[in-house]
Amino acid sequence: MKIGVIGGGQLGRMLALAGTPLGMNFAFLDPAPDACAAALGEHLRADYGDQDHLRQLADEVDLVTFEFESVPAETVAFLSQFVPVFPSAEALRIARDRLFEKSMFKDLGIPTPAFADILSQADLDAAVASIGLPAVLKTRTLGYDGKGQKVLRSTDDVAGTFAELGSVPCLLEGFVPFTGEVSLVAVRGRDGETAFYPLVHNTHEAGILRLSVASSSHPLQALAEDYAGRVLDKLGYVGVLAFEFFEVDGGLKANEIAPRVHNSGHWTIEGAECSQFENHLRAVAGLPLGSTAKVGESAMINFIGNVPDVSAVLAVEDCHLHHYGKAFKAGRKVGHATLRSEDAATLEKRIAQVQALG
Ligand SMILES: Nc1ncnc2c1ncn2[C@@H]1O[C@H](COP(=O)(O)OP(=O)(O)O)[C@@H](O)[C@H]1O
Ligand SMILES: [Mg+2]
Repeated sequence: MKIGVIGGGQLGRMLALAGTPLGMNFAFLDPAPDACAAALGEHLRADYGDQDHLRQLADEVDLVTFEFESVPAETVAFLSQFVPVFPSAEALRIARDRLFEKSMFKDLGIPTPAFADILSQADLDAAVASIGLPAVLKTRTLGYDGKGQKVLRSTDDVAGTFAELGSVPCLLEGFVPFTGEVSLVAVRGRDGETAFYPLVHNTHEAGILRLSVASSSHPLQALAEDYAGRVLDKLGYVGVLAFEFFEVDGGLKANEIAPRVHNSGHWTIEGAECSQFENHLRAVAGLPLGSTAKVGESAMINFIGNVPDVSAVLAVEDCHLHHYGKAFKAGRKVGHATLRSEDAATLEKRIAQVQALG
């Protein structure tokens, strides 16, 4: 079976690493000459709107999936005429726009921060008056790793902020005084079978994920699965879907969903019976899902900007390096390590050992 992937970054690369043993081949559509997934499959180097190359991709593959949610809607609509695309165009339409995703949470009775659609500075002023400060202004589309958003703490922060974010459609959200951030990686097969990984506790710095620690029997696991299940069923979803939640007042508020494999699920490559990458491929290919059970204790550390000395990383016991083969650049995710152990105290020690490598 040949899988077409829109986007050729590290997520595509890790999909191919998981799918190759299943007998799958891969083609990646990505305009970047140095797309790091190209090492693992065919690279169609073209823009996402290039219909000749989209048609070529559709002709070559059995199905198409994607590794980022900002794929233009027209690209998915065009491809869908010729080849199955999973997750669906509708799932992508909702997940790529913060207004649509938060409105869906509200419709499904899933708690989420107060929000308002912002199309002008006057909208922003009115929304700040009703939602209050602090609040977060985010562009509705294209934001990632904390880009395209600003925390508004005082009235001084509000003036001119709509223009500062580019005068594009935005969402104002009430600031959530969360005690923690957790994510749930979920998967739904073509036949509607669902499975959920253990909740992961996430730590961000400057808007970028740094550390994910997989939990054991988290008290909010069942609640998170209930919320995620509602969204999966509503969208008739096929593939891996990641949910980011704020932990607040002993409950959860939904922050956002990602219609794809997710950075907070990278630990599953070594830390779970079947990884999020393999399960995504199993789901889209109509194969039985694999076990989402955790194997011992597990955590993931992102390498941002550069990968530390490889031999030093590998000297840490039960540490598994993933070097994406990308050029090093400040603020860019260039690799990660999965750490495992039999007990939580040892895991903490190994996390500290890797963090000390810088
Ligand atoms: N409403 C909010 N209240 C408090 N913190 C927030 C809020 N929205 C976002 N954040 C913080 O900013 C981070 C990035 O925001 P998010 O909406 O997840 O955007 P991205 O698409 O960049 O991941 C979150 O993980 C969280 O730490
Ligand atoms: Mg996020």
